[in-house]
Amino acid sequence: MQISTTLTSTPTSDERLAEILADPGFGTHFTDHMFTVEWTPEQGWHDARVTPYGPLTLDPATAVLHYAQETFEGMKAYRHPDGSIWSFRPEENGARMVRSSHRLALPVLEPDDFVQAVDELVEVDQRWVPDASTGEKSLYIRPFMIATEAFLGVRPSQHVTFMVIASPAGAYFKGGVKPVSLWLSEEYTRAGRGGMGAAKTGGNYASSLVAQQEATANGCDQVVFLDGGEGRYIEELGGMNMYFVYADGHIVTPQTGTILEGITRASVIELAGKLGHQVEERRISIDEWREGVTSGEITEIFACGTAAVITPVGELKWNGGSAPSPPAGQVAATIREQLVGIQFGREDDAFGWMHRIV
Ligand SMILES: Cc1ncc(COP(=O)(O)O)c(C=O)c1O
Repeated sequence: MQISTTLTSTPTSDERLAEILADPGFGTHFTDHMFTVEWTPEQGWHDARVTPYGPLTLDPATAVLHYAQETFEGMKAYRHPDGSIWSFRPEENGARMVRSSHRLALPVLEPDDFVQAVDELVEVDQRWVPDASTGEKSLYIRPFMIATEAFLGVRPSQHVTFMVIASPAGAYFKGGVKPVSLWLSEEYTRAGRGGMGAAKTGGNYASSLVAQQEATANGCDQVVFLDGGEGRYIEELGGMNMYFVYADGHIVTPQTGTILEGITRASVIELAGKLGHQVEERRISIDEWREGVTSGEITEIFACGTAAVITPVGELKWNGGSAPSPPAGQVAATIREQLVGIQFGREDDAFGWMHRIV
């Protein structure tokens, strides 16, 4: 892909950038540039460019605003102690966007082009990647693809735009890893058979918000969704996949065909295997969860995703009841330390997961 670059004439000052990077929070500050490439059936992907970050001008009839034909990704760039900048398995994010795009009737952007776009933006805005000495701070990267044809008919858009923006992110846990408390959503589900559960698309997140509001109103951090068919099997959290560790050391993670298959999830499967745990991908019911915790058969529960990497799961609450979780354990802590160590260049990258950008 040929990419043209137009640099901003008003880059963020060193002083302001230092202030932002001291406490970046999440998703509120954006780097000086953005990447854009457009697609039409006649021209394919064309006009790839890095330009100054700024608002889009969209016709009010733009398809994505009405029918939510869009996909997105979430990934990070990490600075290593020698100053180099790396991403984690970016080709997997590119491949997942291809799968999501198929489901949303969007065109395929080849994973190589996806990775090139991300690399180009991060290279141009490299001073926005927080220093390695600042704990788990990173540059969060948000690639997204939107239907940009101005047309109100319900059919796949004939004009599509793929963009990448980036935003420095603070450590998910300030002052030590803390368990998340979970609200069991019995009324709302996230996905059904034949639906969009396995795709990373805005509608899945829009539909999760009311359940998240319910969780917050009940004093919980996150929602856990059950399957849409029987309401019995664990799917995932609003933005993380789940893991259950059993007393004999084996680990179970839900596989239902309707969850978003996380890149952290896939990496945990490999790392846990290397650490000698047998990992099963299968359905696990809410009864197995409750009974396993009560009997001591389940010894640890944790969740994983790009944002938090791995977080222990605390109390589970539902309408009219609650179940304690096993105390945060060593399996999750060990896997977390190894994964974060690989991402930040402190551990040997034995799986070849890291991709050098700068
Ligand atoms: C619904 C959902 N499940 C799981 C995940 C974890 O995926 P990953 O490990 O690729 O961040 C995410 C995060 O993107 C998510 O939004």
